[in-house]
Amino acid sequence: MKHKKINEVKTIFNRISCSYDFLNSLLSLGLHKYWKNQLVNLLNPINGENWADLCCGTGDLSFLIFKKVWPNGSVTGIDSAKEILNIAKERSKLFGNKFICWEMQDIFEIDENLKIYDGICMSYGLRNLFNVEEGLKKVFNLLSDRGRAGFLDFNHSKCNSLADIFQKIYLRFVVVPVSKIFNLSKEYSYIEKSIKNFPDGNKLMLIARGVGFKKVEYRTIFFNQMGILILQK
Ligand SMILES: C[S@@+](CC[C@H](N)C(=O)[O-])C[C@H]1O[C@@H](n2cnc3c(N)ncnc32)[C@H](O)[C@@H]1O
Repeated sequence: MKHKKINEVKTIFNRISCSYDFLNSLLSLGLHKYWKNQLVNLLNPINGENWADLCCGTGDLSFLIFKKVWPNGSVTGIDSAKEILNIAKERSKLFGNKFICWEMQDIFEIDENLKIYDGICMSYGLRNLFNVEEGLKKVFNLLSDRGRAGFLDFNHSKCNSLADIFQKIYLRFVVVPVSKIFNLSKEYSYIEKSIKNFPDGNKLMLIARGVGFKKVEYRTIFFNQMGILILQK
């Protein structure tokens, strides 16, 4: 089950890698950049800190964190899908940024004895992991004492709430048809299923506390469509 999901997710992101940034910007009308900025502002990375962007994809958060921790800190972007990570590397070259370290790795295989971060961020990654609790445990173990972490993802709204109905209409009648033009409708149909299986904010906070995080906060943004989870050890 675990390996099936890991391979399924890797295949999806390798396949959509070329259109990923374009479709993200188109389908969110560019708002995903704003939401990512919001997450980074809440986390407040500071110069000299060492950060990891897990499930970094094409590296949006890594570039934002870089601006805050540079020149004395570090940023590592980690993703298991080769093709999407290659785009992050290409963007780095384009921006003349030799500073961010890109690693192709499954986050569950990161050696916790070798890597300790002051902060960890993740956007639209947690929902794609085979197990959210295992993902949060991994993040907990990779953080230094009092380290902090932040996650941006779709919010799992209450069934049949206005936000839930809007989300389903948007996914079914905008996201899937638009992705169909790019021959990626199967891959983008996966989003609705993944949100259904993703814990809601209260459950996420409960899981995070169970894992050991002392400070736990969840807030929704953009009319309850997205959620930001902020954690501290
Ligand atoms: C929806 S994309 C998000 C990319 C980027 N963070 C963003 O916000 O645009 C999810 C990413 O998680 C990566 N991913 C999923 N499971 C992973 C795992 N176990 N280890 C590392 N990366 C993983 C996928 O390859 C994909 O690039």
